[in-house]
Amino acid sequence: MRSVSIVGIGQTPVGELWDRSARQLAYQAISAAMADAGVERADALFLGNMLSGSLLDQEHLGTLVADFCGFHGIEAAKIEAACASGAAALRIGAMAVASGFHDIVIVAGLEKMTDTVGKDTTAGLATAADAEYEALHGVSFVGLNALIMQRYMYEFDVPLDAFAGFTMNAHQNGANNPHAMFQEPITLQDYLKAPVVATPINIMDSSPVCDGAAALVLVPTEWAKRFTTGHHRGAVQILASASANDTLAVHDRRDPLFLEAAYISSQKVYRQAGIGPDDLDLFELHDAFTIMAALGLEANGFARRGEGWRMAHSGEIGIGGRIPISTMGGLKSRGHPVGATGVYQAVEVVQQLTGTAGANQVRDARLGMAQNIGGSGATIVTHIFGS
Ligand code: COA
Repeated sequence: MRSVSIVGIGQTPVGELWDRSARQLAYQAISAAMADAGVERADALFLGNMLSGSLLDQEHLGTLVADFCGFHGIEAAKIEAACASGAAALRIGAMAVASGFHDIVIVAGLEKMTDTVGKDTTAGLATAADAEYEALHGVSFVGLNALIMQRYMYEFDVPLDAFAGFTMNAHQNGANNPHAMFQEPITLQDYLKAPVVATPINIMDSSPVCDGAAALVLVPTEWAKRFTTGHHRGAVQILASASANDTLAVHDRRDPLFLEAAYISSQKVYRQAGIGPDDLDLFELHDAFTIMAALGLEANGFARRGEGWRMAHSGEIGIGGRIPISTMGGLKSRGHPVGATGVYQAVEVVQQLTGTAGANQVRDARLGMAQNIGGSGATIVTHIFGS
């Protein structure tokens, strides 16, 4: 197996981007990543996307985007794993380069969620759940997470405002990210008076509905110097990659308060990279809802069961803390264009590991982890990157 490196990154701002179509967004991110790497061709495009079929009436998206980018005769495919589509595409791209099937691979993530009305977007997102046993009964995606959060608060005796620190940290970091959807810090008061979406989740616990695209250029590590000579940014190596699944329906889990797939995939990447959680300089976790941030910290070895929420209040997760999370705003503040999110996370880890994260730079960052979750913990893809 060959070692794989990222030599180019690109991203569009995240937001309600009504002036650009899905293909234009993808083109913007992909052309930026290719210019960043200084490459003019690719052997393959793997595109993470979840909702193009249900919201845009457009499948066959990999080839559509490849065509629009001017690629002909290359391999192109959409990769779908609900909200984990972006990281799933990255993993497939990395496997393609590692195996020797391809040398130059573009991995992109694309989602356009705001061209439809809210109820259709909510119904589209619910397709990440089990259609027959969850969605059919009318439970939305926010609703499922609300049930998990309610149970967590009951089991571990957690107060309602315990999660505010995750939101405040995310918005603090998003304020310095020009690509973030929300660029304003928020206060505890803002959190406390936020309208409730599904009890106990309020709008400040929840990532937004938004559009965005991000892209990466992958090559064998032994080629990386060729692309980064005279380049402002060095290459970043993919040190470890793993994916694990859990039951699709939350009610089928032995313990709905433990992200078993996160545990399994992070144990695998720690083994592959020969490190443990304490060696990481930052962790881009999947804070689609604040409860997922708490559960992610627990399953990946940063906090004990039932205690992940305590890290939100301890300053441990800030840029100068023990384990900085959501360093460019996370899903909450940068935004969560679902199938693109895993690629945004990788782009941001590359920024951190190449010293180009601006005001949010984590000092001397060398090792970063990103974790992307599809469904309520059903598909979890984890990567460790090294400078
Ligand atoms: N955080 C902070 N502010 C938010 C926000 C969020 N998550 N979502 C919307 N807003 C703001 C908007 O910017 C807007 O502000 P303005 O009035 O100053 O312009 C206002 O709230 C209303 O926005 P709107 O788009 O009408 O919100 P909405 O009520 O339609 O949607 C949610 C809000 C939370 C219901 C929606 O974002 C949602 O469903 N999120 C979850 C998405 C999801 O499940 N993703 C998959 C997770 S894995």
